[in-house]
Amino acid sequence: MKYCLSLLFTVVSLLAQESSSYNELHRPQFHFTPAKNWMNDPNGMVYYEGEYHLFYQFNPFGNKWGHMSWGHAVSNDLVHWEHLPLALEEENNVMIFSGCAVIDWRNTSGFGNDGKPPMIAIYTGHHTDKKRQDQRLAYSTDKGRTWTKYANNPVIDIEYADFRDPKVFWHEPSSQWVMIVTLSSEKKLRLYGSPDLKDWTKLSDFGPHGSTKGVWECPDLFPLPVEGTDASKWVIILNIGGGAPAGGSGCQYFVGDFDGKTFTLHEPSQPKHQPAFIPKGEVFADFENRFGAWKVEGEAFGTAPATGAVNCQQTVAGFEGNAFANSFHGGDKTIGKLTSPEFEITRNAISFLIGGGAHHTNTCINLLVDGAVVRTAKGNEDEQLDWQSWAVPYLKGRKAHIEILDRWTEGWGHINVDQIIFSDKPATPAMTPALWADYGRDFYAAVSWSDIPRTDGRRIWLGWMSNWQYAQEVPTSPWRSAMTVPRTLSLRQVDGAYRLLQKPAKELTKIRGKGNALENSSGKAASELIGSLDTELLDIELTLDATKVTEIYLSKPDSGTAMIKVDPVGGELGFYRSQFGETGFSSHFPGVHLAPLRAMDGKVTLRLLIDRSSIEIFANEGESVITDLFFTKPGAMEIDFGDGTIDRFAAYPLERIWK
Ligand code: FRU
Repeated sequence: MKYCLSLLFTVVSLLAQESSSYNELHRPQFHFTPAKNWMNDPNGMVYYEGEYHLFYQFNPFGNKWGHMSWGHAVSNDLVHWEHLPLALEEENNVMIFSGCAVIDWRNTSGFGNDGKPPMIAIYTGHHTDKKRQDQRLAYSTDKGRTWTKYANNPVIDIEYADFRDPKVFWHEPSSQWVMIVTLSSEKKLRLYGSPDLKDWTKLSDFGPHGSTKGVWECPDLFPLPVEGTDASKWVIILNIGGGAPAGGSGCQYFVGDFDGKTFTLHEPSQPKHQPAFIPKGEVFADFENRFGAWKVEGEAFGTAPATGAVNCQQTVAGFEGNAFANSFHGGDKTIGKLTSPEFEITRNAISFLIGGGAHHTNTCINLLVDGAVVRTAKGNEDEQLDWQSWAVPYLKGRKAHIEILDRWTEGWGHINVDQIIFSDKPATPAMTPALWADYGRDFYAAVSWSDIPRTDGRRIWLGWMSNWQYAQEVPTSPWRSAMTVPRTLSLRQVDGAYRLLQKPAKELTKIRGKGNALENSSGKAASELIGSLDTELLDIELTLDATKVTEIYLSKPDSGTAMIKVDPVGGELGFYRSQFGETGFSSHFPGVHLAPLRAMDGKVTLRLLIDRSSIEIFANEGESVITDLFFTKPGAMEIDFGDGTIDRFAAYPLERIWK
């Protein structure tokens, strides 16, 4: 039986990697994708004998998550990839979840032979017949081509359901292997030490810290050079399953020191917690007197507001236990609507507490003027209520209604609202004290390559270019998901704090075609230059005057428009993708994604990497990054850079990496 299964896997894996045109609708042209089937996290990234290995979470049997195994590819330049057969297969009710690979140069494990060091994969075993995750080993003595699972697996089992994604490195000063791994639902990281990769001893725990809104997954720990100095600092990378700034999954980091046992936070680098600002104004609705004059339709809201903790932790400082509108009456499957009495808009802002479903137009609160929705807001897949507000200065004097809507019958099919306040200043939510690697919607599970030679010295990583909120719905076939481009990491000192910098790996310039550069050009000349390149694959560099706001519009035939807003004055970089290409496959997909942006010596620099279905925006040498997908019709990208002057502009067409 075992033999049959393994034969089946080999056949399936060969089929999965059979050649593809790599030219299907939406198929990335210079980003890594599997030929077919579902992919998520990058795994086991390691460099050995001239090859960068990229393993990845892969379903050999379909185009959605399942049967998790490790797919495998290699590259000798981080740009062109060769697919290899499946490396590690799901077997005996144990899926192969995320993890890492190292070269055991000293053969501490004893798995090496003929004086050659073994390549060792350290991964999470996810049991499908019980709620259990444990840490396991597999080794290869032929450059990752064939693998043997360690006979004494698991090497760590603490009888936990959520204990995953080990990342291991050799720590020279303490002469030991160090593992960082997540206790996902406890929002903790655990560090272990080992002499031989087989026997592990707990060193310390880290967390909860930073953002704890989603499950903690896929950590990493490494030192990074500080730009312009000989110093370095240690960085913890921590991917979280929900609650990232753009919504859904995202990647946060912590800067500090590591002594071989404990990670100590560099406190000045950690953003300070800022409490919510609650404006003074008229409270239009707090639902303390039941629904009052509000019209109730459908079943979801019941006949009266909810109180206290209904289906979860409805808590916000100062409002615990108060009544609030909640559409979980009868569970997620019920639908309903609350409509307020008519009122006149007399103030600049309408603020409210909101939580629950994040389904655009389906679990939301709307402001209606003349029967049309003029402002909307949704929850953030978190029961906890938090402040949001609408700016309405231009609507003063207009008659309006507010409606609270639940039209969603599946997961997160409910909405919670409280404390609707009319005021001159908007409410602002408590600031999540976290540092984010990327402010776009599509950067997750990022971890770094191991064993890059000292002579090179770079720390390089890449992320999974998707978001758990809609990854399984994106309109691509016969594959799903791409990786971001590989990026080189470093730190920059900003006002006494350390900030992560990410730059596209320099090897990417190898696929630049003949480009063109302009100095002090008009936006129009830059737009014309892009037109003359006539391509969908672009690498663009811009230097802009930081005293102005620049709006850059991207368009493709019959696909609408996306906007990059560069606003160093307001301190914001944004990507607006709601009106660009296909967005209806998931109510989570449309949106505006904002990153902090500052002026540097009066300028802002941008690097844009545009593929057939993605954009990566690196501002100020990768101090602010936005990675976002889009699904447009085929055709050359047109870009309107507006009427302003561009200090420096360079644009290159990029070659396809799949031939
Ligand atoms: C992150 C993750 C990991 C897990 C893997 C399973 O995206 O949830 O925590 O190991 O995916 O595919």
